[in-house]
Amino acid sequence: MGLTITGLGTAIPEQRLTNADLERMVDTSDAWIVERTGIRERRVAAPDETSATLGTDAAAAALKDAGLTPDDIGLLVVATTTPVQLFPSTAVRIQDSLGLRCGAFDVMAACSGFVYGLVTAAGMMTVDAGLKAASGGQPGGRPFLVVGTETLTRVVDPTDRSTCILFGDGAGAAVVDHSVEADGGLLSWDLGSDGSLVSLLEVPPGERWLRMEGKEVFRRAVRVVVESSSTALQKAGMTPEDVDLFVPHQANVRIIDAVCSRIGIPLDRTVVNLDRYGNTSAASIPLALAEAAEAGRLTGGEVVLISGFGAGMTWASAVLRWEPRQ
Ligand code: UT7
Repeated sequence: MGLTITGLGTAIPEQRLTNADLERMVDTSDAWIVERTGIRERRVAAPDETSATLGTDAAAAALKDAGLTPDDIGLLVVATTTPVQLFPSTAVRIQDSLGLRCGAFDVMAACSGFVYGLVTAAGMMTVDAGLKAASGGQPGGRPFLVVGTETLTRVVDPTDRSTCILFGDGAGAAVVDHSVEADGGLLSWDLGSDGSLVSLLEVPPGERWLRMEGKEVFRRAVRVVVESSSTALQKAGMTPEDVDLFVPHQANVRIIDAVCSRIGIPLDRTVVNLDRYGNTSAASIPLALAEAAEAGRLTGGEVVLISGFGAGMTWASAVLRWEPRQ
């Protein structure tokens, strides 16, 4: 039995940071930011908002979308690059504020975190089903929650024009359940990492702000997303022509353009919403998925490719066949 997404939710801070605002903060221009990144505005968390509060709101919205209550959930996996504190996890805060009664833990894989979390949840669902079957019980089990939540603007130096234009805050969440269709749900995945590239994008130990070698991240991002997406498609026995909707990590529209043209997926089958949110790291894929579902682009039967990359470096792709609502 596989994993399928049965509910999606988002949480977006109210405060907007536009390119015009940034023109007043650093030596930049709206024209440069739009041409080099595609971003027009991002959201900034209010002082009382954290990765835990945004994650809680997104998860609550996903529960509502799935028609479930907190008691129904069997596990919470939270992907975040910007946890509330070093420990304990952001997940336990979300578990408490939602009133979940289940295990909860964080996954740290930077912008690839949501896909890492989804694949982890799928593995645990399979174990659950296998154990029940082995003991003679009915396969199945409670649905899980996978959340991507970030407050990246808190680790971005507001005086560094090469990074402060890129990142934004927000959260997205998915309720995942056992797939009901034989060829539905999660069909394949590919996870990767290369820790020799830590210094390309990091908050150095003991420091406050994020540092990035943008050009090098860009160059490698295009390569790993193309390779990882191709691997995931191959594992699913599919080609790029089979993909109905491509949901890439939202970092830079030029990265998305380059990836789409190299893989051979047209832009009209690709979700792009970074113009409104910037790069929200682990939140970007669930945010984009939720918007695509809201816009009626995911009704059932679609082959969906999701692919992320980020600090580490890490990368992660998965192919799902969207299942219609029961
Ligand atoms: O989730 C993963 C996160 N990270 C990424 O995905 C980032 C990937 N990298 C990028 O998106 C791009 O590399 C950036 C958007 C960060 C930078 O774009 P670029 O086309 O690679 O520009 P660059 O760093 O090569 O800089 C070109 C010029 C430089 O000036 P000189 O040296 O040519 O005089 C920069 O100083 O643009 C200048 N520049 C800016 N100018 C106006 C850098 N930032 C800005 C700015 N406004 N905000």
